[in-house]
Amino acid sequence: VLAPDRRLELIDWAARRDAVIIEDDYDAEFRYDRDPVGTLQGLAPARVFGLGTVSKSLAPVLRLGWIVSPPALAGALTAIKQVADRGSPGLDQLALSLLIEAGRYDRHLRRMRAEYSARRDVLVQSLDEHVPGIRLTGLAAGFHAVVHLPAGATEHEVIERARQRSVGLYGMSSCRSDHHEEPPQLILGFGNTSQRQIKEGIARVGDLLRPPG
Ligand SMILES: Cc1ncc(COP(=O)(O)O)c(C=O)c1O
Repeated sequence: VLAPDRRLELIDWAARRDAVIIEDDYDAEFRYDRDPVGTLQGLAPARVFGLGTVSKSLAPVLRLGWIVSPPALAGALTAIKQVADRGSPGLDQLALSLLIEAGRYDRHLRRMRAEYSARRDVLVQSLDEHVPGIRLTGLAAGFHAVVHLPAGATEHEVIERARQRSVGLYGMSSCRSDHHEEPPQLILGFGNTSQRQIKEGIARVGDLLRPPG
């Protein structure tokens, strides 16, 4: 998340170049212990495309999202979308709009925010219990935490040994363009994992995440 002065600098930069900004606000609904961050789109509606999605809040398989467009570019954007895929499925959009209008989407977000926050807490507690002192980051929002492995550990070895214990782990190297494993880190997702599974999973692999000796 950009600091407030950096946000203003970015908008100023775009204005000087007559550029637009694409703001991918995809995890905005799931922030846990900090206040919601205002959007760039709200600060500069004529310059910023604000992107949102139901992939995180409902299900990725729906393939529905939205773009809040600068008014002057909305026509061109609509034309491009039409050429790209002739539009998203109408029935699916109608169902989503009913869910939103009835207030059920908001209720669902509130319920799931509490649930994901509880899962995140279970993850932090389980790691604390089995791997005291472990460094964890990325906890403020979304469904992923980053575990910083001890120096000398290798991602693929930890992942392979966890796999032999039927626990699926993902390394940060898979998100790097050069697939480099330094520094060794794991991405722990809790978006589709129950509190019980999180506890059991960490108990099973905790020793792999501890420094040797
Ligand atoms: C950075 C980022 N933006 C957006 C999305 C959502 O993409 P989509 O709405 O196409 O599923 C994701 C999904 O993981 C993401 O990682």
